[in-house]
Amino acid sequence: MSPLLVTRTLPEDATDAALRADVLHGLTDHPKWLPPKWFYDARGSELFERITELPEYYPTRAEREILTVRSGEIAAASGARTLIELGSGSSEKTRHLLDALAPAVYVPVDVSESALTQAGQALVEERPGLEVHALIADFTAPLDLPATPGPRLLAFLGGTIGNLLPDERAKFLAAVRSLLAPGDGLLLGTDLVKDERVLVRAYADAAGVTAAFNKNVLAVVDRELGADFDPDAFDHVALWDPEREWIEMRLRSRIAQTVKVPALDLAVDFAAGEELRTEVSAKFRRAGVSEELSDAGLELTHWWTDAEERFALSLSMAR
Ligand code: AVJ
Repeated sequence: MSPLLVTRTLPEDATDAALRADVLHGLTDHPKWLPPKWFYDARGSELFERITELPEYYPTRAEREILTVRSGEIAAASGARTLIELGSGSSEKTRHLLDALAPAVYVPVDVSESALTQAGQALVEERPGLEVHALIADFTAPLDLPATPGPRLLAFLGGTIGNLLPDERAKFLAAVRSLLAPGDGLLLGTDLVKDERVLVRAYADAAGVTAAFNKNVLAVVDRELGADFDPDAFDHVALWDPEREWIEMRLRSRIAQTVKVPALDLAVDFAAGEELRTEVSAKFRRAGVSEELSDAGLELTHWWTDAEERFALSLSMAR
C-alpha cells in the first residue's frame, strides 16, 4: 500500500450548493448572519495565517506552547496507533504530536485538497513507515473514516469548536463519539474565558487584519454568487457577550443600502447601522467542557493549559 492515500468524500459541487443555501438562509433571516466557514478562500486563509502571528491573537501561540510541552504526556495517556485530525490544514502544529505518538497511521481531514496533498506528501517523505490517509471531507457532516489500527486519537485543535453554537456543539461531539470505540480518545483545543479587553483585542487588532478577514466573506459572496457587496460600506465589529461567553464578529452597514445576489435572485436591504453576524467564537471553562464531553459519552481525563492559562487542551476517553 502506498504511504499516501487521498480520498474524497466531499462531492465537487457540494461547496457551491452549501454556500448558496447558507447565504440564502442567513441574509433573509432577522438578524442577518453568515457562517464563518466561508471566510476561508485562498485570501481568507492567508489573512487567518497573518492573524495567528498578530501580537493580540494569543490562541495559536498558547496552543503551540501546550503541544510543545505536553506532547509526550498526551502520547503516553492516549497510547494511540492512529491519529485522526479534523481541520488539519497544513498539519503544522501536529508535528509535535506525530513525533511523540509515532502512530502507524495519520488521518488528516480537511476541505482543502491542496493543503492535504502538500502536507501529506511532506509528511510521508519525512517519516518513513508513516502511512497517511488524507480525507477531503467537511467534518460538520457525517464522516466515513478508513479502517485503521486502534486505539485511535481524534484531535480537533485551534479552538475551532468555538465556532459552533451550543446545540451544534452537542451534535458534533455526539458524532465524534460515534466514530470512536471505548478506550479511544478525543484531544480538544478550547480557548478559555478571560479578561474581556484581552478577548476583544484578539478580534479587533490594531493593524486591522481581522477586519480585513471579516470583510473577506463579502468578497467570497461577490465572487461566487455575483453579489455586489462593497466591503468599504461595512465596519468590522467584535464584541464580547458575557452571558453566552462568546466573541461575536459582525459587519455593520455604514449606510442604508440594497445588495443584489444575482445567483439567488435576491435583493437584500440593509438599514444604516444594521449588523450582519459573521462568527461566534465561544470561550470555555473546564467545568463546562467536562460536562459537554460527558453528555456526549466522553470522560475528561486530562486538562493541560499554557503557563498563562489562556487556552486548554483536554483529553477525554470514549466510555
Ligand atoms: C479558527 C475559529 C479558532 O475563532 O479564534 C480568528 C477564527 N476569527 N480571528 C477563532 C478567527 C477571527 C478562529 N478559529
